[in-house]
Amino acid sequence: MFVCICNGVTDTQIRSAVEEGIVSSYKSLTKTLDVGTCCGKCKSCAKDILREAVQDNSYQQSFSNGLVLASYPA
Ligand code: FES
Repeated sequence: MFVCICNGVTDTQIRSAVEEGIVSSYKSLTKTLDVGTCCGKCKSCAKDILREAVQDNSYQQSFSNGLVLASYPA
């Protein structure tokens, strides 16, 4: 879905930028993809998607590094 209509940026692009390590903050998001640099109406939605993507990415990195502890039923 389009997050920033003014600059044609989608949630997929934001998530990909986070996964690739290009973006990790709202500041870097605006610099890299120009999100929120025109009317600014997308700012809140973009921040929500960025936050979610950063959390997902952190979890995946922890998992791949073996840092996530699994709990199994007794
Ligand atoms: S919708 Fe993103 S700057 Fe206008």
